[in-house]
Amino acid sequence: MRPRGHHRSKDCAVDSVTLTDVTYTYPGSEGPVLRDINLSIRAGEFCSIIGPNGAGKTTLCAAIRGFVPKFYKGDFEGTVRIKGEDIADASIGEIARDVGFVFQNPFTQMSGITASVYDELAFGLRNLGVPPAQIRERVEGMLELAGITAFRDRDPFQLSGGQQQRVALAAMLIMEQDVIVIDEPTSQLDPQSTDDVFALIEAAQKQGRTIVLVEHKMGHVARYSDRVVLMGEGRIQAIGTPADVFTDPAAASHGITLPESIELAQRLAGHGVTVPGSPLTVPALIGALSGGSHHVAD
Ligand SMILES: Nc1ncnc2c1ncn2[C@@H]1O[C@H](COP(=O)(O)OP(=O)(O)OP(=O)(O)O)[C@@H](O)[C@H]1O
Ligand SMILES: [Mg+2]
Repeated sequence: MRPRGHHRSKDCAVDSVTLTDVTYTYPGSEGPVLRDINLSIRAGEFCSIIGPNGAGKTTLCAAIRGFVPKFYKGDFEGTVRIKGEDIADASIGEIARDVGFVFQNPFTQMSGITASVYDELAFGLRNLGVPPAQIRERVEGMLELAGITAFRDRDPFQLSGGQQQRVALAAMLIMEQDVIVIDEPTSQLDPQSTDDVFALIEAAQKQGRTIVLVEHKMGHVARYSDRVVLMGEGRIQAIGTPADVFTDPAAASHGITLPESIELAQRLAGHGVTVPGSPLTVPALIGALSGGSHHVAD
């Protein structure tokens, strides 16, 4: 992908997404679905949102992209800032320049009017009037980054779910927003496709983008996230590094399935075997058990 100066700087002092005292009630719903949310996500951070069904994760994403309250209405209090700017007075279109969004079902977010993967990626850029030579360069780069060059001439609707999800992600990433909000992208995918999607999200983070990801696959959350936010009943129940959140009693009390390595470490502890640290992957657990202070690559 072509170099993009300001996207590449990973200045962690800058907050990319800031929610201050956000409380929100959908029209007609009994009580608030988001309650007193205070959350600052740094530029370039990979922040995962976890929590049980109905916790408010998707609603939180909707608040970050302005759909709550601009589209859904309802009672909204508090402030959402993107790159320091309050979005209260921005239109959804203006917010979309800074915040890209991909959700669960890739099928529903394809434009539906393009004949090939190549055109699907070029679609948004053509709409913006980007010069053709630049479109070609950006599409080629993104096909490569997403590992979908082999499907470039295929009809997006004839691809597998995993391939479609990578096309949907690529079609968003090519728009080059700084903040990427992704809601359960792998819930319908097999393990290999899940790994492929995470590799692509990680590549986007490496370009300096801020990642906000809702995900139920805790092994992947543990491995990729800088920070994890545990939501429950509309509130932030725990926040911190994956090791902090997965070992917080709130994780168990909110029915979170722990990553395999942390669950194993806890079972071993029950048998009197203490595992140093909180290994986030099984290879790291094995490394910790074999006593090496060496770093086990994951
Ligand atoms: N458009 C809507 N109108 C009214 N209530 C809604 C609407 N969308 C969601 N809700 C309610 O808000 C609460 C939070 O929903 P939300 O979809 O944000 O949860 P979630 O954490 O994303 O859950 P899941 O894991 O099932 O996707 C739920 O009680 C849900 O029923
Ligand atoms: Mg949801």
